[in-house]
Amino acid sequence: MTIDSSSLLCSKFNNHEKNIRSLKLNGHVGFDTLPDQIVAKNVSDGFTFNVLCLGETGIGKSTLIDTLFNTKFDWESSSHFEPKVRLNKTTYDLQESNVRLKLSIVESVGFGDQIDKEETYKILSDYLDNQFEAYLQEELKIKRNFAILNDTRIHACLYFISPTGHTIKSLDLITMKKIDQKVNIIPIIAKADTIAKNELLKFKQRIMQDLIANQVKIYQFPIDDETVVELNASMNSHLPFAVVGSSDLIKVGNKQVRARQYPWGVVIVDNESHSDFVKLREMFLRTNMYDLIEKTHLKHYELYRRNRLVEMGFADCSSVNGKVLSISETYEAKHTELKAEIQKKEDEIKEAFVAKVKAKEAELKEAEKELHEKFVMLKKQHAEQKERVEEKKRILDEEMKEFQRRKFSLEQSRIHSLGTLKSAKKK
Ligand code: GTP
Ligand code: MG
Repeated sequence: MTIDSSSLLCSKFNNHEKNIRSLKLNGHVGFDTLPDQIVAKNVSDGFTFNVLCLGETGIGKSTLIDTLFNTKFDWESSSHFEPKVRLNKTTYDLQESNVRLKLSIVESVGFGDQIDKEETYKILSDYLDNQFEAYLQEELKIKRNFAILNDTRIHACLYFISPTGHTIKSLDLITMKKIDQKVNIIPIIAKADTIAKNELLKFKQRIMQDLIANQVKIYQFPIDDETVVELNASMNSHLPFAVVGSSDLIKVGNKQVRARQYPWGVVIVDNESHSDFVKLREMFLRTNMYDLIEKTHLKHYELYRRNRLVEMGFADCSSVNGKVLSISETYEAKHTELKAEIQKKEDEIKEAFVAKVKAKEAELKEAEKELHEKFVMLKKQHAEQKERVEEKKRILDEEMKEFQRRKFSLEQSRIHSLGTLKSAKKK
């Protein structure tokens, strides 16, 4: 289904428009087949429905989806040791009568098992934004092709709350708060068979009180359509639905029913006094599926689109110097503004670069100067050392000469004494 054609379905008469006269037709014209034409077109196009199942590991997400769609999907088993939360998406082609449904189920893996919860919120929020962004990018193209665009925007988030019977966990409250502007949240109490009936009522009340106190906006079944106003209004008061899931067939009486078998009895999935499963299926798939798709487009995507366009510099009534600008003029003005900004940034980078080069140059010069001074000092030290060595050599030479001179005179005096001794002996 393309939203463009489906939005025709919800176009309404504006009775306050002036210059419109009511005329009576004289016979059958044929435009009363328009609703049938729209239905035929949508049926031939098929429908897309994307569901996000968010809840702690092992809370019963896969089982409930199997139970809701009365089939067995392929599920990946997950552990409690995921380093960070992941989203696992699987897409199926389903058909009921002549209606084809492309169903995508995105299941959280490892939700609530990490210490760093901030990262978890970011992963979830980014995922929802990324789907909007992909749609927006297609919408902004000059040549748009919504027929082939794979609409991956999440239409509903089934938020599984643990059946503690106490209060809703802060992780659940914060997570819902972080994504409530991006997706239709339908909170459900999982494994409702593990909680006593009288406790369940109080638990539901406490959850709703906590959601209201923290201004968490959950999906409300619409009450503006008179065909479903009564049903939806009464169902809104049953939120959050407390559900039981099971695909196991158990014989009760002479009938095979989907149920969970316990030593003390059987919890039948389709029994309204056992759980709210029937209410959930009725509200989620049978009465409000189209509203979920439409709200995603008209409310959540619209908000994302508006914020992104404002971020890009577009505004419906932007003006410069009092002059109201068209979208192309706004684009041109933004383009010029961005160009000037880029130029300014470029100049700043250049300036910073030149300053850095200069600082490095000065640093190098200083180092060179220091090196030169060191060289001069070493040269001076060397010359002084050389002088000292030469002085020592000169002194040694003189001492040597003195020694030679003394040695010579000693030898002379020894020869002279020997001569005197010999002549004395002769005598
Ligand atoms: P992960 O994908 O691994 O996070 O688990 P999950 O949230 O998809 O849970 P799954 O449907 O695999 O169910 C986990 C266990 O809970 C299974 O043993 C189910 O039989 C059981 N379970 C599912 N739904 C219910 C329920 O409504 N009540 C009870 N008591 N057990 C349930
Ligand atoms: Mg699962």
